[in-house]
Amino acid sequence: MAGLFLKVSVTLAVVIAIAFQLLLKDLVWMGLGIGKHIQPLSDFPYKCRRIDDPRFQACEDMWLSESTRQLFMACSTTDGRKHWIPNGLSLNVTGRSLSDAIVAVDIDKPKGDSFEFRALKTPGFTGTAGDGLLNVLGVTGVDDPNGDVELLLNNNRPSLDPATGAILPDQTHVGANSTLELFRVSGRSSEMKHLRTFADAHVTTPNSMAPAGAGPGIRRFYMSNSGGPYKTGLKALFGPLFGSGDITYCDGSTDELSCKVVSAGHKLPNGMLRNSKDGLIYAASSVTGIISVFRPLPDGGLAEVDRIDIGYGLDNLSEDANGDIWASIYPRGIEILMAFGDPWNAKCKAAVVRVRREADGGYSWEKVLEDGDAEVLPGSTVAVHDSKTGRLFFGSVYAPYIGVCEPIPA
Ligand SMILES: *[C@@H]1O[C@H](CO)[C@@H](O)[C@H](O)[C@H]1NC(C)=O
Ligand SMILES: *[C@@H]1O[C@H](CO)[C@@H](O)[C@H](O)[C@H]1NC(C)=O
Ligand SMILES: *[C@@H]1O[C@H](CO)[C@@H](O)[C@H](O)[C@H]1NC(C)=O
Repeated sequence: MAGLFLKVSVTLAVVIAIAFQLLLKDLVWMGLGIGKHIQPLSDFPYKCRRIDDPRFQACEDMWLSESTRQLFMACSTTDGRKHWIPNGLSLNVTGRSLSDAIVAVDIDKPKGDSFEFRALKTPGFTGTAGDGLLNVLGVTGVDDPNGDVELLLNNNRPSLDPATGAILPDQTHVGANSTLELFRVSGRSSEMKHLRTFADAHVTTPNSMAPAGAGPGIRRFYMSNSGGPYKTGLKALFGPLFGSGDITYCDGSTDELSCKVVSAGHKLPNGMLRNSKDGLIYAASSVTGIISVFRPLPDGGLAEVDRIDIGYGLDNLSEDANGDIWASIYPRGIEILMAFGDPWNAKCKAAVVRVRREADGGYSWEKVLEDGDAEVLPGSTVAVHDSKTGRLFFGSVYAPYIGVCEPIPA
């Protein structure tokens, strides 16, 4: 018996060791930041500060409207995020934030240490079971020629009880019932007008979205399903590490929405971006540290044309007016997972890299800023670069503040 047991456990250990080498080594190394040169803020020519404001809590994502000079942030509450992030299997619906909003920041209108801003109201939007609420995670947008902005956001709605139509008190068996919501903001309005709800069987674990074309408006788009089809249970927990994530294409150019998976086998796909300069689609993985580059095909399919190996856990991607891509990275990925335990006091290293297309068609990237001692910046899930001022904005899925860095003139 003991001999058999030993044999089985030796075999098991070998299997685990091989699995570790093949599948998880990079993840563990990246998660612990092994082999990384971690630098303090003082190494970089920026002056950074926090902006503490109850409305600037848990802003997982940001999108900069270049033409209206507004930064749109998808914000929640630090306490609420702990309980409700369906993509991360936090499914305590009674603990979720009841005040999620898109916050529009006027980045050319400083006010003290902060900026003028508006938390956008959503008149007429019915929310979940008529509550009028949003549960936002990601936001993207397009500038329309007439000065309006269209915003596409993912709404991680709680699921309903089919019998009563009320919100199910226990969401752990069914998971969220996410949708993507399209809104229009006119100028500097304090409201956003709801245009359309995109619901489909392939909108399962939406994390990030990218418009599929140049606009105007967003009717066709790509999105990353971070866990693929799995919303709950072990497959949802471990699947993303082994490639259950996908990229889905949706076409809503008619009243009928149609969505299909166009690229499968992604490991925790996160930030998505359509680069307006080259029209290519960029998809970042939080697990492999690779940005995959795709050429969109006429039927919505994606042909992979390149892979950029950054070697850090990646979160969101954003593009600046020069066409450069800015990626927020986790110098030590494990910290952001641990931050959810005590989000008010968490210390989490943050960094951002800039990815640039070279004349020969290849890519180069460089770390532009790092807060290796977690002095000022939140453990950032998004970094946005304003090429006009050189300023960087940092949002975080959990932190009760955002970070702003001003370049120090040389
Ligand atoms: C869910 O959230 C509520 C409200 O914040 C809290 O009282 C409760 O303890 C939470 N449940 C779990 C399992 O964390
Ligand atoms: C990430 O950023 C892109 C581009 O700014 C945006 O399209 C997307 O919605 C964002 N989403 C998330 C959740 O990271
Ligand atoms: C999920 O959303 C769809 C579309 O809005 C709705 O028809 C359906 O009843 C919802 N299901 C649950 C379980 O909430």
